[in-house]
Amino acid sequence: MCGIIGYIGEADAVPIIVEGLKRLEYRGYDSAGIAVYNSGAFGVVKRKGRIAELEASLENANIFGKLGIGHTRWATHGEPNDANSHPHLGEKSRIAVVHNGIIENYKEIKGWLQEKGVKFASQTDSEVVAQLCEHHYDGDLMQAVIKVANILEGSYALGIMCLDEPDILMAIKKDNPLIVGISDDGNFIASDVPAILPHTTKVHYLNDKEIAILTKDDVKFYNMDSETIHREAETITWTMEGAEKGGYPHFMLKEIMEQPRVIKETIKNTLMDGANKNAIDSLDISHFNKVVITACGSACYAGIVGKYVFERLCRISVEVEFASEFRYKDPIVDDKTLVIVVSQSGETADTIGAMREAKKRGATTFAIVNAVGSTIAREADFTAYTAAGPEIAVASTKAFSAQLVLLYILAIRFAQKLGKIDDIKTAELIDEINALPEKATQVLEHTDYIQKYAAGSINSKSVFFIGRNVDYAISFEGSLKLKEISYIHSEAYAGGELKHGTIALIEEGVLVVAISCCPSLYGKIFSNVEQVISRGARVLFVSTEDTKEDDKLSLIKLPPVHELFSPSLSVIVLQLFSYYVAANKGLDIDKPRNLAKSVTVE
Ligand code: AGP
Repeated sequence: MCGIIGYIGEADAVPIIVEGLKRLEYRGYDSAGIAVYNSGAFGVVKRKGRIAELEASLENANIFGKLGIGHTRWATHGEPNDANSHPHLGEKSRIAVVHNGIIENYKEIKGWLQEKGVKFASQTDSEVVAQLCEHHYDGDLMQAVIKVANILEGSYALGIMCLDEPDILMAIKKDNPLIVGISDDGNFIASDVPAILPHTTKVHYLNDKEIAILTKDDVKFYNMDSETIHREAETITWTMEGAEKGGYPHFMLKEIMEQPRVIKETIKNTLMDGANKNAIDSLDISHFNKVVITACGSACYAGIVGKYVFERLCRISVEVEFASEFRYKDPIVDDKTLVIVVSQSGETADTIGAMREAKKRGATTFAIVNAVGSTIAREADFTAYTAAGPEIAVASTKAFSAQLVLLYILAIRFAQKLGKIDDIKTAELIDEINALPEKATQVLEHTDYIQKYAAGSINSKSVFFIGRNVDYAISFEGSLKLKEISYIHSEAYAGGELKHGTIALIEEGVLVVAISCCPSLYGKIFSNVEQVISRGARVLFVSTEDTKEDDKLSLIKLPPVHELFSPSLSVIVLQLFSYYVAANKGLDIDKPRNLAKSVTVE
């Protein structure tokens, strides 16, 4: 997600803001910018790329001032480039704004302003805030901001400066974090604590639709009726490193905990009018006689779950191929093939290669990507975005969960278009999808129990993840999570296949994680559980069904959920289990050995 910092005081704002932006880099970004007030004008420098590029540009820009705002951008609307970077100014350059969040009604606002002759300089949703503030400004910035806040829909954290009121820095937020920092050397706004921790530990966490007005000497708070709000500052006790992780010990745990919000955001972005819905609606699924899902690692395992969901709902066969295999197997692909490409980074070399190979052979490509403006996002014929925000930990969690829900919705929409499900069934399935964020929150309530169980599992010789149907599909991701962060060997296995050889490996000291969320197959997988227990294994049973626990079998009970979408819940248990095993082993969880976050080479 984007990062914001603002400063007003007696010092030059430029170095303070640049250093603050560096402390927000962990949030992930693709461009950065700064605007400062000086002698009746704004000095603005903004660049695509790293903060180093911004600093290089600042060396020749000769901008300085005691009031300024800065921004690191994680693109959601409009590809990463200089023009789309923040800060954004109104067309008269009298108001400058930085924004974190998504303005859902930006198209209507932009159209309304353009009809009034307002000229826009970017493709972003954020620019409408600067233009609207300027449009409504008539000598009182707070009143203009209140008018604008009553028009905006979506989420925002805003830092605002106005040439006609250079003694104040204004801030307002809704559904996105924004803090106000107070110091003897000036006052700050920021998206997150790390940006201002070196200057102050005295902060206010803004509430939704509260307005903060900062001067160099004090800070005042108002509500939307312009009434003063009295607040007491809080004192931050975090270290710098702790602050970057929001108080969690690792980014991976923070990102696991973010999943209910990320699932909700991705569902909303895909069901409501917008780029994702347009991409899905533009695709004529009836044109194709073959569907292939290709990706790498976790993204491919999301595809395996997608296969089961597509086949069950759309009644079309779906092939899932590792991209590194697909691209070199002389794939049977033509203009009647739909190739779904899944990638968090959008820069994985094998996945790019597979997509290009598919396009060369005439296939239509539909990409599910997290990074806006990435290679896969730009080159695919159709692109839908997960709303996971930057995923810092190498081991994918929230991006994986976002990929799952996007694949579910894709399957539902395609089944509807193919006439395989009627409107009533469609509505039922969408209701099930919309219930997932709350159910994911309920699963996170098992964290302490999983932490204890994981502590007792760190010496497991080998771990098998078994299931049937979608439970088998999600077991691949469970196995990968354990391998990549705890370095314990594991493998995913179809429960019914164990007896054809692999069960020879089951003995004392082996742990089996059995997933069972398909009621009609409960008896079958439970007999597999009894088989492995009788050969000495311990079993962690992850199920929507109750079962009797004993010294060999432990149960994690999941909330009731449609079996096709149950991987979104069972995977959280598997993520937490792997996380706590690795944490008990004292490993470098966010940066596991030998691994990179995005494998941009073959
Ligand atoms: C998953 O935890 C790993 N980080 C890895 O398997 C990853 O999913 C794979 O490299 C694909 O990356 P992508 O989604 O960015 O294409």
